[in-house]
Amino acid sequence: MKDLSPNRAELDPIEIASRDEIAALQLDRMKWSLRHAYDNVPMYRARFDAAGVHPDDLRDLKDLAKFPFTHKSDLRDHYPFGMSAVPRDRLVRVHASSGTTGKPTVVVYTRHDIEVWADTLARSLRASGLRAGDMIHNAYGYGLFTGGLGAHYGIEKLGATVIPMGGGQTEKQVSLIHDFRPTAIMVTPSYMLNILEGFHKAGLDPRQSSLQVGVFGAEPWTNAMRQEVEEAFDMHAVDIYGLSEVMGPGVANECVETKDGLHVWEDHYYPEIIDPQTGEVLKDGAEGELVFTTLTKEGMPMIRYRTRDLTRLLPGTARSMRRIEKITGRSDDMMILRGVNVFPTQIEEQVMATGGLGPYFQIELYTSGRLDAMRVFVEATPAAADELSRTAAARVLTKHVRDMVGVSIEVVVGDPGSVARSQGKAVRVIDNRKKD
Ligand code: DLL
Repeated sequence: MKDLSPNRAELDPIEIASRDEIAALQLDRMKWSLRHAYDNVPMYRARFDAAGVHPDDLRDLKDLAKFPFTHKSDLRDHYPFGMSAVPRDRLVRVHASSGTTGKPTVVVYTRHDIEVWADTLARSLRASGLRAGDMIHNAYGYGLFTGGLGAHYGIEKLGATVIPMGGGQTEKQVSLIHDFRPTAIMVTPSYMLNILEGFHKAGLDPRQSSLQVGVFGAEPWTNAMRQEVEEAFDMHAVDIYGLSEVMGPGVANECVETKDGLHVWEDHYYPEIIDPQTGEVLKDGAEGELVFTTLTKEGMPMIRYRTRDLTRLLPGTARSMRRIEKITGRSDDMMILRGVNVFPTQIEEQVMATGGLGPYFQIELYTSGRLDAMRVFVEATPAAADELSRTAAARVLTKHVRDMVGVSIEVVVGDPGSVARSQGKAVRVIDNRKKD
């Protein structure tokens, strides 16, 4: 893999500013953002008033803890545009994320918001080792999802060339990558595994492809998956994080030179970690739920938005801005089996560590007697598809999960190609538990 460490002169000065400078900028911007939300969004005014706080009460960054949280349900309750803070004619873009039930969550942007988004995405790409002149294959879905268009504008902002492929059509993805010779790809990590399979089907050696960097996000993925993809394509695999409610992709990104967690672009998105049960703000280093306050967003300011993503805040390394550790999962994705908390990422780690298995998996939850139980569907690699190898692989995975995660599971090793393939964000868990 090529050394793609950026030249420090290419970075935004604030990325490597002192902590004092960053904090001073954050405080100024946070005052503005609280005031903007209070003055222009009736929900925030009512909430702040009810909690007995006013934007003038913020004298220090720590004072943010006095302000109430915002939840996903607030966006649903004010569907579609009730949380917008600007007149309708100042909005230049709408995105939405489809919920599992009911109405989608709608988010809105002014022209300035789109510029900030493109800037922070371009910064994310620079952190990933990319520059003006690179050609980037964008396989995040276009449309209401923020992935496709968010990445698109950022790629253009960087001065790179975008291939606006979008999701799906795996064969076409492979042939375009082969013919256009992009230096990088942006896609969900689970769909990248689909593309990998497409390379093999087309008789192409992925290690000989032009790709030097993959910028992967929109779903949790592990360092074990990173290793698998880096090895398969002989390229860097870098993590990009974001969410529609706060902006979209590019709220935080890993640096290619360290790959040690994602630097949060703290000059625009202020992070906190809280105890998900009590709401108490935790010290940096402690694991909890990530909460964001937007510092510059005009269209739809977010004050203390509860992401439900679980991680830790860590000090800066390659940049002065703080990092989040790779996301373990969403609190909604946590499964509890006989009192043990289990995340799909923990299963992913063990699948990757088991020989003779492909990197594809799906989890089924079902009811066994009066208890919840878990079955994991995986598949044999073509070289280990015989009965004996499958039985051995199932035994090893069951043991790994029991030893490392602490739960007993059933493993079903299917034929190569038998596990449903991801077309974007992978569906990891099928819940067939009896509901009473
Ligand atoms: O997934 C934005 C995005 C697009 C990020 C492309 C990165 C790349 P939403 O559809 O609103 O937005 O989903 C946001 O996805 O709260 C996390 O639970 C999850 N997520 C996003 N990035 C990561 C990541 C986009 N790198 C939700 N690791 C978030 C783990 C991630 N989870």
